[in-house]
Amino acid sequence: MNKIIIANWKMRLGIKESVKLAEQYAQRFKDAARSADLASRKVVICPSEISLTKVREAVKDSPVKLGAQNVFWEEIGSYTGEISIKTLEEAGCEYVIIGHSERRQYLLENYEMIHNKTKETLDHSKITPIVCVGESIEDRESEKRENIIISQVQQAFSGIQLLPNQQAIVAYEPIWAIGTGQVIRPDDVENMHEMIRAAVVDMFGVDVVKSQIRIIYGGSVDGKNVKKLASLDNIDGFLVGGASLKINEFAKIAESL
Ligand code: 13P
Repeated sequence: MNKIIIANWKMRLGIKESVKLAEQYAQRFKDAARSADLASRKVVICPSEISLTKVREAVKDSPVKLGAQNVFWEEIGSYTGEISIKTLEEAGCEYVIIGHSERRQYLLENYEMIHNKTKETLDHSKITPIVCVGESIEDRESEKRENIIISQVQQAFSGIQLLPNQQAIVAYEPIWAIGTGQVIRPDDVENMHEMIRAAVVDMFGVDVVKSQIRIIYGGSVDGKNVKKLASLDNIDGFLVGGASLKINEFAKIAESL
């Protein structure tokens, strides 16, 4: 599977700003797609939901793919303010971020909800779920760190099967590294990804993991620290917040992969 780099614009841009940045992405990666090297990397942008349809127009003639930052777990119904997977599909999304730690923190999302959202996505759409896992600073210091991550992965995917044409992404995003400039040590991320890979192999088997599941890293990745991380065996890509708001910085990350 080729590597993937995903921009999470969070709630940082309005509609016009999102379209403007999306146009810069489209231009940058349209040119880059001609180079064999960059053509083999997937680039995904996740703007706010209200910007999706306009951003789709801005990137339609480029290799840049569209993703959403959230989805609801029911197919249709009286769920004020929520958005269904079918609507995201209609808006042109090919990816959706599920269970970001900011949603776990501010909206009290738990792993039952994250599981339901993952299942809904795979059961009712062609969209690839990007399931976020990651520990707090307190968990990091404790001996339970590894168990916490394994249990997050197991809860999110329990009982879920991937059909041969489906993919899933696990994004390891330690909460203490998000937006803090605190970058994880390469050996640390290597260990954590190895452990996550073992957990998904237990659930899905080696072959499915090899061809259908990516494990990517997120947390203060930028143009400077990306080189060390990109060279690791167990990293299939990045989920980038702050650095994805500047096209040059993001392109640097994409080019290092
Ligand atoms: P930063 O890259 O700003 O640390 O954010 C990471 C993140 O939360 C991506 O989902």
